[in-house]
Amino acid sequence: MINEVMRQTIDGIVQKLPCRDSAVVPALSYIQKENGYISESDMEDLAIILQFPQSRIFSAASFYSMLKLRPKGKYHIQVCTNVSCSLLETESLIDYISGKLGIGSGESTPDGLFSLESVECLGSCGYAPAMMINTEHYEDLSFEKVDEIFNTIRIKEGN
Ligand code: FES
Repeated sequence: MINEVMRQTIDGIVQKLPCRDSAVVPALSYIQKENGYISESDMEDLAIILQFPQSRIFSAASFYSMLKLRPKGKYHIQVCTNVSCSLLETESLIDYISGKLGIGSGESTPDGLFSLESVECLGSCGYAPAMMINTEHYEDLSFEKVDEIFNTIRIKEGN
């Protein structure tokens, strides 16, 4: 839901840009920053504020992978499944992580600790396979390295 303060901030974003079209992605990014993700009602509210059809907001929100339409876990895992990583069997890597966490791509663990997503290139092609957890890059991955990363997180989280 977009509250009055957020609406005023979005109005400010619109005023700084040459046209309302340019404000769609910055406004969606702002909503995500405030709410953690972009809900359907957020998109409906933004369509009213920007005076665009809802379909225009929905299409922009669903196009950019950095915009999240579902709540993310405390640790949001993005596994690259693009060419370089796929050649090094990233598909089995994402299956491995999926099996460890008991969730599929686009899902979160019931405790909200982890969410998993398959994404396009993370810019680490020379060090494939690669993944990110929140803003941290992990490269040259193997099942053993993934186990070490998750063990570190579980120790940090006390479970
Ligand atoms: S293809 Fe995986 S990081 Fe570029």
